[in-house]
Amino acid sequence: MNVVGVFDSGIGGLTVAREICAQLPGVDLVYLGDTARLPYGAKSPDTVSRYALQCVRFLEDVQIEVLVIACNTASACAIPALRKTYPAIPVLGVVEPGAQAAVNASKTGSIGVIGTEGTVNSNSYAEAIQALDPSARVVQKPCPLLVPLAEVGWLDHAVTELTLQTYLKPLLEGTAEHDPIDTLVLGCTHYPALKPAIRKTLKSMAPDRSIALVDSAEAVTNELSKLTGDKPGLGSRRIFVTDLPQRFTRVANTFWQGPLPEATHVDL
Ligand code: DGL
Repeated sequence: MNVVGVFDSGIGGLTVAREICAQLPGVDLVYLGDTARLPYGAKSPDTVSRYALQCVRFLEDVQIEVLVIACNTASACAIPALRKTYPAIPVLGVVEPGAQAAVNASKTGSIGVIGTEGTVNSNSYAEAIQALDPSARVVQKPCPLLVPLAEVGWLDHAVTELTLQTYLKPLLEGTAEHDPIDTLVLGCTHYPALKPAIRKTLKSMAPDRSIALVDSAEAVTNELSKLTGDKPGLGSRRIFVTDLPQRFTRVANTFWQGPLPEATHVDL
């Protein structure tokens, strides 16, 4: 299985595509970003599922052999519908591999999850973590401002630092219901780009604690490597977007290092 479809609501999924290309350079990668309809993070589960089903129809037409849902919100809301509608294509989302990586990383079982409103409201990370370790305690925080901050490239900006401090404070302090976290799941495509800022914020707010960061792009790529064959593909890269590609190409640098393959506009 060497033709890998990567689906995202837009641009951030390039963090997952980048990880796949770095770890599995021989795969033939087809990326589809639904830039005409992003963001998915504040939309209802039904709308996200409907959009995801339309997008994957396109990827089925270009004959992908395995599908990676890079978008955390779509992984959280649309996987059952996708598996039902496209039974011939193995579907990997980011939630299950991310949950497994979090359980492996946590020593205390107190795990934080940050993501979009859609991902947090779905409770899917918490359910996946608790299915693996029923004693784990999961505390979640929607962080809707982080996607636009990453897209404008404010990766090392005082506004981003203050935003992170505000979002992360309750996870670090703990409450009567949960201990301070020792592991934080980056449950959104954009957050790997903010890793240095997140590390810096955690260090400044909890200097004596070591908090593991779980990057679900890495976790899903490890899962994918079990499905891709020993015989490499041609290492081709194709990128499709549903809006005109100019903004995608301009913003992409934050999420993809190196020369970006040309993005082609498609109407679904
Ligand atoms: N790709 C989305 C996710 O990982 C973030 C951007 C959006 O809200 O569409 O949840």
